[in-house]
Amino acid sequence: MAPNNTPSPADRQTWNPERYARNAGFVAELGEPVLDLLAPVSGEKILDLGCGDGVLTEKIAAAGADVTGVDASPQQVAAVRAKGLQARVINGQELDFEAAFEAVFSNAALHWMTNPDAVLAGVFRALKPGGRFVGEMGGEGNVQAIARALADGLDQRGLDAADVNPWYFPGPQEYREKLEKAGFRVRSIDLIPRPTPLPGDIEGWLETFAESFLKRVADDQKDSYIADVRDALAPLLCDPEGNWTADYVRLRFAADKPEAI
Ligand code: BEZ
Repeated sequence: MAPNNTPSPADRQTWNPERYARNAGFVAELGEPVLDLLAPVSGEKILDLGCGDGVLTEKIAAAGADVTGVDASPQQVAAVRAKGLQARVINGQELDFEAAFEAVFSNAALHWMTNPDAVLAGVFRALKPGGRFVGEMGGEGNVQAIARALADGLDQRGLDAADVNPWYFPGPQEYREKLEKAGFRVRSIDLIPRPTPLPGDIEGWLETFAESFLKRVADDQKDSYIADVRDALAPLLCDPEGNWTADYVRLRFAADKPEAI
């Protein structure tokens, strides 16, 4: 647990870089539109918040920017450093930068940080006046069927599903208000349904991303729990050829810190 009692994403989910690369390579591949929205400029100092395995951090660096990745997962930060990039282990809800960056970028990470006001206050502080915050995260309705099936599977075993959901998926109005309350001017914010083909079976997704649900179940029950969740989801998310598609919905935004506050 983090010192101020804000759970770190790393308290609820651990990352295995090899498993992540196998089951979640699409996360960075589908992050291209957010990179386009960021439009990194050579020489800019940019913070990649929740940098994961650093695939997009590397692309920002390739544009000539001086990029620093931060992530709550020591394993992911080690993988980013192994690519020769700068990265630090930091809980995104406890950013400690002061007017240090021209831009803060975040892809598929903010929904793991369940104290969004703390995140936004830290991002605002980290930006120089006139700096920009560009991001994409899961939005309202994201992985709704998957989360429902995971919770139902716990209920069926008499296990409490109340506080295991580790994700924050806001709608555009809610997040706009939070951005504005933190001091940002919102340039754009859109909710984008994006059904996402998975590279393999839904089991790989569950094992990679749903650890806080799986942890509730005794070791000798895990296989049957995963099988039940899979069975519940197959009619909704699997086609007759066996291809799985996750019910993703993205919230994509760009916001600016005013020049003068
Ligand atoms: C997402 O990128 O939307 C996501 C990934 C893992 C778990 C939940 C949501």
